[in-house]
Amino acid sequence: MPARNGKQWANVPGKLASGEYVDSRIYSDHAIFEEEISKIFRKVWIPVCHESELPDLYCFRTTTVAREPIMVVRGGDNVVRAFLNVCPHRGNMIENRPSGSFEEGSPSGAPKHMTCMFHAWQFDMKGNCVHISRATEGYQDRLACSDVGLRRLRCEVKFGGFVWVTLDDGIDQSVEEWANGAFDCMRKSLDAEPLEVFHYHKAIIPCNYKLWHDTNSEFYHDYLHYHNRITGFNDSYFARKNIGFGNGHINVGSFEVQYDQYEGFESREELSFPYLPTNHWEMIDFFPGVNFNLRGSALRCDIMTPLGPDKVMIEFRGLGLKSDTPEERLTRQRHHNSIWGPFGRNLHEDLLAVSTQQATMSEWAEKRRILHGRHETDADGDPTIHDEEGMRHFYNEWGRRMDRWPGNPEMSYQKGQEKAA
Ligand code: FES
Ligand SMILES: [Fe+2]
Repeated sequence: MPARNGKQWANVPGKLASGEYVDSRIYSDHAIFEEEISKIFRKVWIPVCHESELPDLYCFRTTTVAREPIMVVRGGDNVVRAFLNVCPHRGNMIENRPSGSFEEGSPSGAPKHMTCMFHAWQFDMKGNCVHISRATEGYQDRLACSDVGLRRLRCEVKFGGFVWVTLDDGIDQSVEEWANGAFDCMRKSLDAEPLEVFHYHKAIIPCNYKLWHDTNSEFYHDYLHYHNRITGFNDSYFARKNIGFGNGHINVGSFEVQYDQYEGFESREELSFPYLPTNHWEMIDFFPGVNFNLRGSALRCDIMTPLGPDKVMIEFRGLGLKSDTPEERLTRQRHHNSIWGPFGRNLHEDLLAVSTQQATMSEWAEKRRILHGRHETDADGDPTIHDEEGMRHFYNEWGRRMDRWPGNPEMSYQKGQEKAA
């Protein structure tokens, strides 16, 4: 069979069915991207940081959710709360630093308060406005502190101490309900004792956020990772399950990694997370753009912030146990960074692959099909590690929320389902 001409190239290859591929434009189209922000990212729970990043009372962390600036604060009552990082007066961003403490207060404000530097309005840790500069002189009895509190956001600390926030006041699910069982595989390990972030870096990657999610949720691409092939690729590796949960989340089942098969590496047995079988590797791909990856001695969490159709900020965190001794912590960091640090055996390979995928899918590129059609099951018929069930599951939820059929984004989700049936 010769290489295909333009018409053949645009056709669905082989006998793949609708639902086993997506249209490449969902990775590059600006209108689709804007819709994803409003229909998905503004509507779901997103973990924005870990509670260990707010180690003391009055600590804060700032970030964005769906391009809205937000801040997370640990109050004097030890409760973690989230607010829009927006002053109710003239819309200044209240806090510019990525993290810090309100314990001392700013020069124009007061200790244990947030102060907007523009006109020095002050707010307490619960988001109440407690001071308006020259209030009665300017506003007489027309505006009081009680009229201008911060915009609070629903916030929960859950699943190993991650701080989850949603912009949607009307969301009808708790974080527990939103997870829908996807955390069951590792929650005992994460909740056994307090965790602590020991590694943080972020990168802006020239790819659509879904490509990063895809590569995290499929392991067929272990042909890309020499380290993974050498330490895995045995019967138990190929038996790992690929399991979908409600709301679009996915688990990749565990197996025992043979770290000592890689030259210079050693078993990670000694520092295995509580309740995690020795050297095992559990993974959760959370809808729409979060990944929890527990490999023996270290937990990695990627949080994606989409910046444009072809640009995503990824924050990479590595976590260990708060109770680690300095020696244990160093070993854990070495284990984490030797695989997942910027110079590790794995991360840069994935980053290169998604960047070059995106390079072929610019807005002006001919549309083509991106294939998610592998079915590879065990004797019980359950999808295993090289099945692409995880991606199909993700795109089904994506299509439902977007009301677009991923294989043909001009078609409604319902119409696509009818045609696929
Ligand atoms: S904008 Fe914040 S006090 Fe004026
Ligand atoms: Fe990978």
